[in-house]
Amino acid sequence: MYQVIARKYRPQTFEELLGQGHIKQTLRNAIEQGRVGHAYIFSGPRGTGKTTTARILAMALNCEEGPTPKPDPSSPVCQEIAAGGALDVVEIDAASNRGIDEMRRLRQNVQYRPVRDRYKIFIIDEAHQITTDAFNALLKTLEEPPEWMVFVLCTTEPQAIPATILSRCQHFAFQPVDVGEVLEHLGHICDSEGVTAEDDALAAIALAGDGSVRDSLSALDQAIAAFGNRLEAAAVRDLIGAISSESADRILAAIRDSDQAGMLAAVDDMFRQGHHPQYFCGELARHFRNLLVMKLAGAETRLVSAGAREREAAGVWIDYFSEDDLTRFVNLLLSLYSELQDCTHQRFRLEVGLLKLVHAARLAPIEEVIGSLGRPSAPIAAPASGDRRPTAAPSTGGPSRRASPKPRAKRPSAPLSLKDKLLHRLRSSEGTETLTEILESGTVQLDGRTLRLTVDSERKGVFELQRPVLEAAAVAVVAKKVRISIEADETPRPPPKGGDAQGAGNSRQPSLGFEARAKADPAVRAITEQHPGRLVGIADLRS
Ligand SMILES: Nc1ncnc2c1ncn2[C@@H]1O[C@H](COP(=O)(O)OP(=O)(O)O)[C@@H](O)[C@H]1O
Ligand SMILES: [Mg+2]
Repeated sequence: MYQVIARKYRPQTFEELLGQGHIKQTLRNAIEQGRVGHAYIFSGPRGTGKTTTARILAMALNCEEGPTPKPDPSSPVCQEIAAGGALDVVEIDAASNRGIDEMRRLRQNVQYRPVRDRYKIFIIDEAHQITTDAFNALLKTLEEPPEWMVFVLCTTEPQAIPATILSRCQHFAFQPVDVGEVLEHLGHICDSEGVTAEDDALAAIALAGDGSVRDSLSALDQAIAAFGNRLEAAAVRDLIGAISSESADRILAAIRDSDQAGMLAAVDDMFRQGHHPQYFCGELARHFRNLLVMKLAGAETRLVSAGAREREAAGVWIDYFSEDDLTRFVNLLLSLYSELQDCTHQRFRLEVGLLKLVHAARLAPIEEVIGSLGRPSAPIAAPASGDRRPTAAPSTGGPSRRASPKPRAKRPSAPLSLKDKLLHRLRSSEGTETLTEILESGTVQLDGRTLRLTVDSERKGVFELQRPVLEAAAVAVVAKKVRISIEADETPRPPPKGGDAQGAGNSRQPSLGFEARAKADPAVRAITEQHPGRLVGIADLRS
């Protein structure tokens, strides 16, 4: 008879269990030291190993040569437990046995010694379903348990368990399993099932579980049922309704290029592929959140659940958008997600919502510029430095001939320089003003695993003092551990001039004194320094 993959591959030992590191360790230690408790709560999302761990614990306690942290899965007792047929391991589904009568019966049952084995283990699934009265009936049992009793209450909602019960149990919180681990697990299972699968197909399946191993294994079952022994990425994605990274890329490109028509076309595509609007929006939010996390923590961060391809694609995008941009996008998508909940015209809502992203991206730089006005040394966030539009041709241009404010469209979006990234990173922490100021006039260069910072020789000492801060920022920016070498810049520095440092090509204007004053204004300098060579003209609005 066919057995579903999730059951066929249910772990039989602590070692086989994915994730849950400290839980495995604590239980193994407790068993080894003979300090197993009488009552446990295993809480956590579905399909993360709660019931499985309860059974492994039962095997460990009742195994012939136990109690042992390494029970032998092939022993008769363990096989009985694995099959759910051991007399001394009682599994109860609280969803259908939640009342006081059931708990009274259970209480009586607890009083009888184990029929054959060392311990009598009660595994209660969905324990949050038990009524308050029924819980009360259990209190005394938990307080004065017979020596052979071990209770394991499994629940997805620990907050629904009364405090009186919680305080009498050891509580283990199961965590969603890392997608990387699930992916590897899927690979092994495919190997032993004789299934060949494209990497991206398995990545989509791993992601679909969102940390629930069981959900991923069910998706794998479904894919094998649909496509047999060859799993191709595109087909699998369609089956489980995952959005492809191409779809996400189209949306991102539309935002970057302020391309409203492109955005509408991407939405149309999404409908053609049969995605549900809210699901699609949720997936997009997840994608953008991943970009944000990678931007903050480096592309290789484990905080992101993404396959290798998705990571690589994301790596390209994070240079285009600032942290603020990405935060704004995630927020917009999350509110769009809840708006789509009970909305009748989902398609229109989605279109309008996604167009908002295009607008939000376009507005961002203006906000940043305005925000930086009052603060002379304030940073202007990421997009600025990639944004070298050619200076407007000065030949015919009077001061009033300004380039019409182009949207971000079609500009060559060069990635940020290492120095920009480092400065940006430093500015986001407090107390780094001096450091950033010194670095601003220095250079940054990555040489293999050495990050060379060349700074003003007179201030090198001050800089050196803050090495730990620099190191932390460097790791985040370079996404690997680097050695920092601080070198003195010996070239003589020109004395600071209040005048035209940027050479904006307007110095032949008649009103030189006025212009020089305008350029020396701290707010103007803050902007021109961030956008070198882009000062188009200076107009005296009084005349
Ligand atoms: N941490 C895990 N490691 C390996 N497989 C797991 C894990 N969690 C769940 N599974 C798989 O999912 C199935 C259901 O797991 P289960 O322990 O019943 O989850 P829960 O009780 O947390 O809902 C198992 O048979 C197993 O195949
Ligand atoms: Mg379970």
